[in-house]
Amino acid sequence: MQNTEQLFKNIIAHSKEYGFVFPSSEIYDGLGAVYDYGQYGAELKNNLKTYWWKAMVQLNENITGIDSAIFMHPKIWKASGHVDGFNDPMIDNKDSKKRYRADNLLEDRIAKYHKEGKTDKAAQLQEQMDAYLKTDDLAGLKQLIEEHEIACPVSGTRNWTDVRQFNLMFSTKMGATAGENEVVYLRPETAQGIFVNFLNVQKTGRMKIPFGIAQIGKAFRNEVIARQFIMRMREFEQMEMQFFVRPGTELEWYAHWKEMRLKWHLALGVDPARYRFHDHAKLAHYANAAVDIEYEFPFGFKEVEGIHSRTDFDLSQHQEFSGKKLQYFDPELNKSYVPAVIETSIGLDRMFLSVFCNAYTEEALENDSRTVLKFHPALAPVKAAVLPLTRKDGLPEKARAIMDRLKLDFNMQYDEKDSIGKRYRRQDAIGTPFCITVDYESLENDTVTVRHRDSMQQERVSIESLYGMIAERVSWKTLLQ
Ligand code: GAP
Repeated sequence: MQNTEQLFKNIIAHSKEYGFVFPSSEIYDGLGAVYDYGQYGAELKNNLKTYWWKAMVQLNENITGIDSAIFMHPKIWKASGHVDGFNDPMIDNKDSKKRYRADNLLEDRIAKYHKEGKTDKAAQLQEQMDAYLKTDDLAGLKQLIEEHEIACPVSGTRNWTDVRQFNLMFSTKMGATAGENEVVYLRPETAQGIFVNFLNVQKTGRMKIPFGIAQIGKAFRNEVIARQFIMRMREFEQMEMQFFVRPGTELEWYAHWKEMRLKWHLALGVDPARYRFHDHAKLAHYANAAVDIEYEFPFGFKEVEGIHSRTDFDLSQHQEFSGKKLQYFDPELNKSYVPAVIETSIGLDRMFLSVFCNAYTEEALENDSRTVLKFHPALAPVKAAVLPLTRKDGLPEKARAIMDRLKLDFNMQYDEKDSIGKRYRRQDAIGTPFCITVDYESLENDTVTVRHRDSMQQERVSIESLYGMIAERVSWKTLLQ
């Protein structure tokens, strides 16, 4: 059996070879921690967005969706705390000139101690690191790196700079003429676009508390160190929902959303043992509860989604910094207040990676082997492929007619090149649930064979029945009912 490191390498290689994820600007040797989604990756990503949007916006009458701009007034990031507090502790090795996150170096050392069975030492280091991170004690972090004799993986030396804070926001300037120039940031989270539109949506949508505002969009973070493929990117996408509630009821809603969000993940048919909750030991200054939903990737359990009870912090801050009231008049209580907020925040790219890892299967067959992506059919980039057995005798025409009947409703693929076996393997590799083969019998009686991806079983069905069969299996109802 291969080790998990090799498995993850195979997954990354497969995602590139079959058009899911490419390194950005590859012909220029790439750009650190930035990736492009290829032809199948874009489809899978869109399907994940649809799954989330339907579950959050369409199925909840009290949740509505928006699409706010990436650029926002710079004061927003002062109010939210990002200008002053959105930092990572970084350290440089003077010999290799490589930059690291100090906490990552220490986490790697903790993992090493665990591997060596030195659990006490690991626990002690973890405790010290957490305490220093909490108090922003950068000298303390440096001291730990020195005490534990951590060397740079590249140069092998312990010639370190001091630990410094590094703000993760990207900035640029807006306006072409002098005087107009103003520093603006590329948003590091989509949430603030929701907070500053709270009253716009509440009033125009006549929303009554409790209600939610959702959005999907790009976020940017100048991560000090990029790790684990699309897990930690500098440009990524978030799917966030802020749920506005009466103050004092937030912990009930927090419990509700915790349950709902895990249910959403599990509906995809993933082994429940691959998911777990991880409560935040240290809470951010504005939160009174926070939990991560973690998925077990080949490199271990890692956060995919966060659920946070953010109190009234964000709205109150924007109220103060903008000088505009951000309050809700509650007709039942006959008074106005700043609502408390529960946030659900999922990284689309991490969700993509978890779904991809879960689907990736290397199978040994009797005289062969195959790599197959066992996506839930509703998420599969291509729903069905139509394959004429030969390129002559009217079979391509028959196959094209089937394509034409189905392609308006499903993402289809037509393929007539190579042997049928090779064509099946190609579809397995991109996760297509159905292969429809058109043969000579099809010309006689309007039937085709359908080969099912996971079982590889084949059945003969009428062309007439194809639409219903595919529709039933790929329907969002299979996930959302
Ligand atoms: N509004 C709250 C917020 O942004 P977060 O825990 O910083 O919270 C939420 O981010 C989610 O966004 C994470 O659970 C993760 O899935 C995703 N995420 C954060 N940073 C990321 C990065 N650099 N690359 C990819 N995904 C990231």
